[in-house]
Amino acid sequence: MDKMAIEGGQALYGEVEVSGAKNSVLKLLFASLLAEGEHVFTNVPRLKDVDSTAELLESLNCQTQFEGNTFRVSVKKPAETVAHYDLVRKMRASILSLGPLLAKYGQAYVSLPGGCAIGTRPIDLHLEGLKAMGAEVKIENGYVHAQAKKLKGTRFLFDNVTVGGTENLLMAATLAEGTTVLENCAKEPEILDLANYLIQMGAKITGHGTGVITIEGVEKLSPSGQAFEVMADRIEAGTLLIAGAITGGEVSVTKVDPYLIESLLFKLKDTGAQVTIEKNRVTLKASPIIEAADITTAPFPQFATDLQAQWMALMCVAQGTSIITETVFENRFMHVQELVRMGADITPKARVAIVRGRPNGLSAAPVMATDLRASASLVLAGLAAKGETSVGRIYHLDRGYENLEIKLASLGARIKRTH
Ligand code: EPZ
Repeated sequence: MDKMAIEGGQALYGEVEVSGAKNSVLKLLFASLLAEGEHVFTNVPRLKDVDSTAELLESLNCQTQFEGNTFRVSVKKPAETVAHYDLVRKMRASILSLGPLLAKYGQAYVSLPGGCAIGTRPIDLHLEGLKAMGAEVKIENGYVHAQAKKLKGTRFLFDNVTVGGTENLLMAATLAEGTTVLENCAKEPEILDLANYLIQMGAKITGHGTGVITIEGVEKLSPSGQAFEVMADRIEAGTLLIAGAITGGEVSVTKVDPYLIESLLFKLKDTGAQVTIEKNRVTLKASPIIEAADITTAPFPQFATDLQAQWMALMCVAQGTSIITETVFENRFMHVQELVRMGADITPKARVAIVRGRPNGLSAAPVMATDLRASASLVLAGLAAKGETSVGRIYHLDRGYENLEIKLASLGARIKRTH
């Protein structure tokens, strides 16, 4: 079933629990490669990307078990430390197996992830950092071949902020000889989750969540013997709140720290919405007339690039013109043409899109998803547009949202999967 059929025009009301974060759990699973033995993670979302990671771990001689939202992995020494192309091409985050495998086993062959719809997604900073730690890194036949008897602690400054680069080097540095200082690090909350799990396994890390992370290498890491709960998915939480705003309803999201989406909450208030913050709960009451509000995406704590497409859908039905600036990825406006098919008035120019919003500015139409967050944007647009919208290639959505249509239906949306 690769389509989502949505009968739009229905205001959403109610409360929904946010699932565990895709962009945290994938890295936690790769971090488990640093310590042979049993690892247990709870609040793990049932996502395609988690299944792909399980496949990759199994190819590395691990046993995995995914029941409900609990994921167990038994890590053993792999016969060969190779992450094959046919697995990596399904999920580019597989490049995050590089740091752990190199640090633990002294060598790693990981397929180059290649680009994706939103950009070239280079990994040059990952590789430069590993070289700075003494690794010999070659690119051959589409694979990264890295080797190092023992990584050496060093100071490394990232040329630009990279979430994956910070994570790969953070994991590699835990088993390096001596101290590593990483500067101009990403501060995304998912990096805190990763660092906390590494510390639970015996790593010595300080500064995580700030721009400078210091890691004192240790001889060995061991599974902590206690289950680790994956943090809430801030992007899913933001997507659900925007669903409330775009349909003119009142939606609460629970089990999420409001601080994780503070930049979005400020912007939702600028649209005239009433936003109530409680401990691990946010409620949004939509404004009858949505005011246009500009956004510029940037690394945390600024407006998340992963919420840009969803914000654009909201601005299509706002009153007035908004400017959306995408500073993180070079091609993250793939959703624009599909929103235009639904009647939106958007002029994309390189990294800036001008959205001339109109109440009821979207009309139902068949559209096609191109990437994960674009598919979320089109679902949101379908919720606002009167009539039936069908969103094709919905497998993109399944990579990063757990039961989104079930959550939306529980809020009153008329949405179902079809062929
Ligand atoms: C992570 O991707 C997320 N993915 C992305 O979420 C998110 O959009 C991104 O961080 C930014 O927050 C996961 O966590 C699995 P980056 P990542 O390295 O690590 C450039 C989603 O929808 N760069 O921070 O790949 C790069 O080209 C996904 O859930 C280099 O130039 O992002 C980009 O322009 C999409 N060289 C910018 O940095 C490098 O070596 C940010 O990329 C690495 C990155």
